[in-house]
Amino acid sequence: MDSELIHRNNTNTTQTTEPLPDHLPKHTVPHSLPKSTNPVHCLFRQQRLVCVLLGFSIAALFFSTFPISPPQPNHPIPDQIFVSGSPVALNRRVLYESQQKPVRIPTGLKRKSSRILVTGGAGFVGSHLVDRLIARGDNVIVVDNFFTGRKENLLHHFGNPRFELIRHDVVEPILLEVDQIYHLACPASPVHYKFNPVKTIISFLLYKTNVVGTLNMLGLAKRVGARFLLTSTSEVYGDPLQHPQAESYWGNVNPIGVRSCYDEGKRTAETLTMDYHRGAGIEVRIARIFNTYGPRMCIDDGRVVSNFVAQALRKEPMTVYGDGKQTRSFQYVSDLVEGLMRLMEGEHVGPFNLGNPGEFTMLQLAEVVQETIDPKAKIEFRPNTEDDPHMRKPDITRAKELLGWEPTVSLRKGLPLMVSDFRQRIFGDTATSASKSSA
Ligand SMILES: NC(=O)c1ccc[n+]([C@@H]2O[C@H](COP(=O)([O-])OP(=O)(O)OC[C@H]3O[C@@H](n4cnc5c(N)ncnc54)[C@H](O)[C@@H]3O)[C@@H](O)[C@H]2O)c1
Repeated sequence: MDSELIHRNNTNTTQTTEPLPDHLPKHTVPHSLPKSTNPVHCLFRQQRLVCVLLGFSIAALFFSTFPISPPQPNHPIPDQIFVSGSPVALNRRVLYESQQKPVRIPTGLKRKSSRILVTGGAGFVGSHLVDRLIARGDNVIVVDNFFTGRKENLLHHFGNPRFELIRHDVVEPILLEVDQIYHLACPASPVHYKFNPVKTIISFLLYKTNVVGTLNMLGLAKRVGARFLLTSTSEVYGDPLQHPQAESYWGNVNPIGVRSCYDEGKRTAETLTMDYHRGAGIEVRIARIFNTYGPRMCIDDGRVVSNFVAQALRKEPMTVYGDGKQTRSFQYVSDLVEGLMRLMEGEHVGPFNLGNPGEFTMLQLAEVVQETIDPKAKIEFRPNTEDDPHMRKPDITRAKELLGWEPTVSLRKGLPLMVSDFRQRIFGDTATSASKSSA
């Protein structure tokens, strides 16, 4: 206080001894107009320094509470991905980064329609998923290169304003404003990925269909703030040493076998998905799908159910590889679609096993096909294929507990639905079979 008093005294002294300038209007002249024009002196006089400090404190408090720039992710994700040797810039990245905070869609509440991208939507599983999404009232965009998919699977949606089909290969980037991405695009059957192993190896291991495709779709999800669901596979467990397979099992995969382009490709896709989730805050979901069957499967695609059904219908012997004692579980496609949708709408990242835990040997499956189609259908044994898993059965405890999901359609109930679709496609009436075959 001493210094303040001394200061004021000085001011008063100055004020009384110095005449005011004539040109100043009297009412605007402050009482303590200093003689000195030194700003420091001005500040100390009249407690202006206190006011200035107070102003700084308020500003600092305001900007620390409401920062101008959004928080950055913990781990940087590349701005560019390389396709065919040339970088493709992810434009408008900044615009959408502020939307990274997950937007939860409460389950059970009446929902507004979403814009949903289904890659591989012209395929077997994808087309059934599209049916359900359209029936729910969503707007659906299908992206497909028709490598194994067929337009016929979606013909019944043509003309619907809530449906769009784009011929596009997911190894090339695409920009679409969507809320959710179901990423299914990938040749799934052994015939297709072994038939063209170089393309598939390139696809998976040299950043083509699944690796680059998945990267592109994750990049899109990041840019538009969409939730991303990867359809992985039970093949990530390889020839499993744990039975049944729980999601915690890391698998037993041969990295150099004929199946590894598929198995390792999907494992890499899972890795990328989790990296984008952790590094860029993308909302992701991972489904590990076990053998699924139903209408619209590719005929003669090398998958065991479609093989047996097509062969029995054509009166050809059913080919069993090995001794036929290897086991598989068979899930009807409508059960899978229900599981995928619950996973997408739920709160959990996964991975989740989606499969039917009912376990059949190949010989038991052949018997069910005989019961359904032709009791006299013959069986022919052939040498087993390389790296054929000995047993496969999902542990679906996690999906039951966290998604409230379990399969409801038994093999004996589902198989006749597939058989009638195959019968129509093999023996005629192909134009109408797709629309009639909705599960
Ligand atoms: N069906 C099963 O039993 C099963 C089991 C495990 C995993 N999955 C996975 O589920 C997904 C769907 O399988 P599906 O049985 O419907 O197979 P599918 O072959 O019938 O469908 C795949 C679709 O993806 C399209 N596609 C492939 N490569 C593409 C590319 N580069 N760009 C755009 N589209 C492309 C195909 O044309 C096809 O329409 C796949 O990712 C598959 O790996 C399926």
